[in-house]
Amino acid sequence: MPMKRLVILISGRGSNLEAILDRCASNHWPIEVVRVISNRPDAQGLAAAQSRGVPTGIVDHTGFLTREAFDQALLNEILGCRADLIVLAGFMRVLSSGFCRAFEGRLLNIHPSLLPAFKGLKTHEQAISAGVKVHGCTVHAVTADLDHGPILAQAIVPVLLGDTAATLAARVLLMEHQIYPMAIAAVLSGRCRLIDGRWVDSGVGHFKHEYVPCLVDKNLPSH
Ligand code: GRF
Repeated sequence: MPMKRLVILISGRGSNLEAILDRCASNHWPIEVVRVISNRPDAQGLAAAQSRGVPTGIVDHTGFLTREAFDQALLNEILGCRADLIVLAGFMRVLSSGFCRAFEGRLLNIHPSLLPAFKGLKTHEQAISAGVKVHGCTVHAVTADLDHGPILAQAIVPVLLGDTAATLAARVLLMEHQIYPMAIAAVLSGRCRLIDGRWVDSGVGHFKHEYVPCLVDKNLPSH
């Protein structure tokens, strides 16, 4: 099977980026991360990519007068990569509807909540103040509607007594690192396809991997 070409967009730390790179390598998936693009020149994740020999690019949003101009520059950079899939991994810019349409079905995001609950920012604070007992993360297709696209995979963690936003975020992040690479492989292997606004899992992919659309943290009681 020919190598699938993946582009990863980041803005900061890049721990999901590292998890994706490491899992692709350790599972010998035919996935090549052809470029990591950041909208911030100082994003920590750039160094993580470079240390693994992955080409990086910067499209600095502060250099553009409008969102559309930035999105167009980003789009041009991505088109040059001939990507099969583009994934947002802590990419902190809202993308225009034109950008989302250009990559329809080929653009994924990971959001740190169980969507449709707790869209937007400070999701762990939102979960704690709502008093929910379970929280988690969601991999979804990106559409023009923020944090709203079709859901591909979710992982669930408990909210424990005494949790702060930081302790809860750390528990969720561990699950993000597991479920995002799996979801990416499920799409790039041809196992999961977006059909009429819903992800359809054929159960058969061309990669050696397990696809678990819903992961449950080991701390969550099963009864
Ligand atoms: C993650 O929590 C992700 O869900 C959210 O932004 C954070 C990025 O973290 N979209 P990292 O840069 O991957 O470490």
